[in-house]
Amino acid sequence: MTVMKIILKSIIPSCSKGVVKPESKPKKDVSKQSSFTRFAMLDLSYPSSMLSEDLSTSLAGSNLHVFTLGELKVITQSFSSANFLGEGGFGLVHKGFIDDKLRPGLKAQPVAVKNLDLEGLQGHREWLTEVIFLAQLRHPHLVKLIGYCCEEEHRLLVYEYMPRGSLENQLFRRYSVSLPWGTRMKIALGAAKGLAYLHEAEKPVIYRDFKASNILLDSDHNAKLSDFGLAKDGPEGDDTHVSTRVMGTQGYAAPEYVMTGHLTAMSDVYSFGVVLLELLTGRRSLDKNRSPRQQNLVEWARPMLNDHWKLGRIMDPRLEGQYSETGARKAAALAYQCLSQRPKQRPKMCDVVQTLEPLQDNEDIPIGPFVYMVRTESCSPKEDKGTKESGSKKELKKDNGHRHQNKSPRMSPIRLKNDTLKNGSNSPLHQKSRGA
Ligand SMILES: Nc1ncnc2c1ncn2[C@@H]1O[C@H](COP(=O)(O)OP(=O)(O)OP(=O)(O)O)[C@@H](O)[C@H]1O
Ligand SMILES: [Mg+2]
Repeated sequence: MTVMKIILKSIIPSCSKGVVKPESKPKKDVSKQSSFTRFAMLDLSYPSSMLSEDLSTSLAGSNLHVFTLGELKVITQSFSSANFLGEGGFGLVHKGFIDDKLRPGLKAQPVAVKNLDLEGLQGHREWLTEVIFLAQLRHPHLVKLIGYCCEEEHRLLVYEYMPRGSLENQLFRRYSVSLPWGTRMKIALGAAKGLAYLHEAEKPVIYRDFKASNILLDSDHNAKLSDFGLAKDGPEGDDTHVSTRVMGTQGYAAPEYVMTGHLTAMSDVYSFGVVLLELLTGRRSLDKNRSPRQQNLVEWARPMLNDHWKLGRIMDPRLEGQYSETGARKAAALAYQCLSQRPKQRPKMCDVVQTLEPLQDNEDIPIGPFVYMVRTESCSPKEDKGTKESGSKKELKKDNGHRHQNKSPRMSPIRLKNDTLKNGSNSPLHQKSRGA
C-alpha cells in the first residue's frame, strides 16, 4: 500500500496564494475515490517528495471540489442572515445551494457552508485536519464533505446539508415534540456505526469530539458524525495509546484521557456512553441550571443505570413512558458499560452496534396517546436561528467569549514539559471554554 505523505508547510503557503482555479482542474473533482489511499495525519509532519504539491493536488483523488470565496458568496446569498444555520466554536454556518451551473456534473443539492473564524492558529489546524480526514473517509454515517475554499486567509468547508440539524437541537430544544424512543435508538445506532467505522478502518481514527452537537440528522433521522477537527490517527504497531494534548468537550471526555492525555478508541466509547445517557434521560451532560448533585449527568445517573427499579427515575419525562422497557434496560446497561472508569471494561464500538441493532424493534412500547408529528419550521434552518443560535450569539457577549452558554465548553490544552498534556485540578476542564 502506498501511503501518501504531505507536510503542513506544503499546504499552508499554497492556500494563502489562492485556490487552484477549479476550471483548470475539472477532472480532479470527479476522479475515483478508489484510486485514493488514505494517509495518516502523522504523515503530515514528515518531509516527503510531495513538498511542491498543494492541498488540492494532494487530495486529488478524493472527489472534493475546490470552491472560490466568490462562488460560496453567490450560493449563500452573501452569507445572508436568511440562510444562517447556526454558529459553533469555529464560526458561522450558512445554507447554500449548488448545482451543475457551478461545476459540470455537480448534483443539484442544498449544502451547509462553514466559515472558519481564523482568529487563532487552532482554527486553521482543525480546518486542515477536517479536510484531510473527511476527504479520505466516506461512510453513510459520516457527514459528506463536498468541498472547501482556501483563499488568502479564508477557510471554508462545504458539506451536504442535514435538514434536521444537530441532535443537540433536536433533543434539548424546549418548544417541540420530544424525540420518540424509536428515533432515539435509531440515532444511537447510526452514530455508533459511524464511530465503529472509524475505529475499524485500516488506519483507525479516534474521533475525540463525540457529542450531541456533532451528530447531525437527515430528514429520516439518520445520524452522521460531523466535525473532524480534533480527530486523530489511532495508535500504530505495539502502541496502546496516542499521547496528545487534552482536547475535547467537558462532560464528554473520558476521565483517563483527561487525567493522562493518553488517547485510545475507548475514549470515544466513553463519549458515546455520555450521548446514550443524554438520549435516555433528555438531559445535557453538564447542566449548571440543575441542583449541584445533578449537574454532572454521568455522576448522577450512572449508579441508577443498572438498577431496574431506579431506571424509571432517570428516564426522560418527555417520553411520557412511551418506551420499550426491555429496550431501555438494555440501552441503560450498555451506557453503564461504556461509562466504565476502566477503559478496558468498555465495549468496542462494533459490540455497541450489535447491542443496539435488536433495540430497533420496539414491540413492547405501551400504547399511549396518539402524537401527530408535524414537520414544523423548527426543522428548517430558521429553527437553529430562532432557538439556539440567535440566543447563543447574544450569550456570546454576555458570556465573555463563551459561545454556547448552555453547551459543554470545549477544553483547551495545557502543555507539559515533555509535551504530553495533562489536566489536573487546574485543568481546562474546570476552567472556561475554548472560546474560539
Ligand atoms: N451539514 C450541516 N447541515 C445542516 N446544519 C448544519 C450542518 N453543519 C452544521 N450545522 C448547524 O450549524 C450549527 C453549528 O455547527 P458547528 O459544527 O459549527 O458547531 P457545534 O457543533 O454546534 O459546536 P462545536 O463548535 O462545539 O462543535 C449546528 O448547530 C448545526 O445545527
Ligand atoms: Mg460541531
